[in-house]
Amino acid sequence: MLYSEKVMDHFRNPRNVGVIENADGVGEVGNTVCGDIMKIYLKIKDGIIEDVKFNTFGCGSAIASSSMATEMIKGKPVSEALELTNKAVAEALDGLPAHKLHCSVLAEQAVKKAVKDYYDKNGIAYDPELFKEEEVHCH
Ligand code: FES
Repeated sequence: MLYSEKVMDHFRNPRNVGVIENADGVGEVGNTVCGDIMKIYLKIKDGIIEDVKFNTFGCGSAIASSSMATEMIKGKPVSEALELTNKAVAEALDGLPAHKLHCSVLAEQAVKKAVKDYYDKNGIAYDPELFKEEEVHCH
C-alpha cells in the first residue's frame, strides 16, 4: 500500500479546513512545478495558537499534510509551531512515499509564513534566518 491509513484518513476527512476571518497570521505558499497551493490561517492569543484553518488546492498528500500540521500546532505556543518540520508531519502521518515528501514541505512552509505574517503585523522582532525560503520541488 502506497499510503498509510493515517494519510488516507486525513485525506478523506481533513481537519481544520476553512478560513479564519481577521486571522492574526496568514501564510500562503505555492509550488510552481505542480501548481499546488496551500494557505494557512492562525488565530493567536497571548502567544498561543488558539485556532488554525487551512485551504489546500493540491494533491492528496498535501491535503493530508496540512490537516496533520494544523492538528499538531493547534493550542501550541507560536514558538513551537515554528519548530514544526516536514519530517515531523510526515512521521505523524506514518510516512509518505519518497516522491511525495515535498508535499509535507509545503505544510511546514505555510505554517512558517503565517507565523512570520503574525510577527510582521505585530512588530515582533525575529531572526530572519528562521524564515529562509527553501525551494520546493515536485516530482
Ligand atoms: Fe505538489 Fe503534492 S504538493 S504534488
